[in-house]
Amino acid sequence: MREGVITVKAVRYEEFGGPEVLRVMEVDAPRPRAGEVRIAVRAAAVNPVDWKMRSGAFGSGRLPAGTGMDAAGIVDQVGEGVDDIAVGEAVFGSSAPGAIAEYAVLREWARKPESLSFEEAAGFVMTSETARRALNLLPARAGETLVVNGASGGVGLAAVQFALADGLTVIGTASEANHEFLRGLGVIPVVYGDGLVERVRSAAPDGVDGAVDIAGSGALPQLIELTGRTDRVITIADPAADQYGVRMTSGKEGHAPEARAEAAALFEQGRFTMPVARIFSMDEVAEAHAASERGHVRGKYIVQVAS
Ligand SMILES: NC(=O)c1ccc[n+]([C@@H]2O[C@H](COP(=O)([O-])OP(=O)(O)OC[C@H]3O[C@@H](n4cnc5c(N)ncnc54)[C@H](OP(=O)(O)O)[C@@H]3O)[C@@H](O)[C@H]2O)c1
Repeated sequence: MREGVITVKAVRYEEFGGPEVLRVMEVDAPRPRAGEVRIAVRAAAVNPVDWKMRSGAFGSGRLPAGTGMDAAGIVDQVGEGVDDIAVGEAVFGSSAPGAIAEYAVLREWARKPESLSFEEAAGFVMTSETARRALNLLPARAGETLVVNGASGGVGLAAVQFALADGLTVIGTASEANHEFLRGLGVIPVVYGDGLVERVRSAAPDGVDGAVDIAGSGALPQLIELTGRTDRVITIADPAADQYGVRMTSGKEGHAPEARAEAAALFEQGRFTMPVARIFSMDEVAEAHAASERGHVRGKYIVQVAS
């Protein structure tokens, strides 16, 4: 061991490919730079972007690479200029790829409420930021009726709960198996796929004001038909957005980092939840990626790093 450098376990890959390229490796613990904090990770989330990166779909990147961008844990080092959080506090937030590791560096964070588990908190990170960003950009306003396409996955659940908290009526698409759960949150569920326009119209006879496409499943033409306008539809995942004149948000145009504290506050009021669909160990991250890739998680797949 080099002086001052501790070695920690991290999930990494040395080549692009299928889930089998993921390995638990020994690496140097990262150090926080100015404006960052380092945490001892308790739990990290799996997001679709993790397996898209791992597959090489985003073109060449630096290898070996870490995986995971959302984590929850205990602050153990603070970078220069950080004065809103102290060593020993429990937080959840976002990192560069590499959060599925014993230590991770966070660029943005929020305090974890005591009653929120580390596992559930890890699932709040990317979901809440993306959902709030899309709703702000649309924008979705109180009193409106909104369609959320892909309502039962991570970002979809965050979007429907923020929209309900903002005072909108929310119609959410999901497979039948998720309808009761969505109804319990206050969402009007409809099945996605052929006939979507007719089903939404019968659920919302007074019309639809806006639509957020989360699933990127090719539903933009139906969402445009429902709202009657391309500027009242936004997508986070459909690469055909340009072709339809619909805005796509990637986060490059700005973040909504306040969404994490907002999700935590709503959680404490019993108005925000992110179900943990399954907990994996660090040795099982390949399985977690494969499960996420199948595309039907309710809530989040979580990796428990330490208990
Ligand atoms: N642009 C950005 O900043 C940004 C940020 C985060 C994520 N994303 C992207 O957004 C997408 C969604 O992310 P996520 O984390 O919410 O994914 P996720 O949690 O894996 O989404 C799974 C959900 O998708 C639903 N689904 C599957 N096929 C569908 C279809 N044809 N129509 C409607 N819903 C369908 C499933 O519902 P059922 O189980 O009921 O079928 C399931 O609940 C991913 O492509 C991700 O890469 C983009």
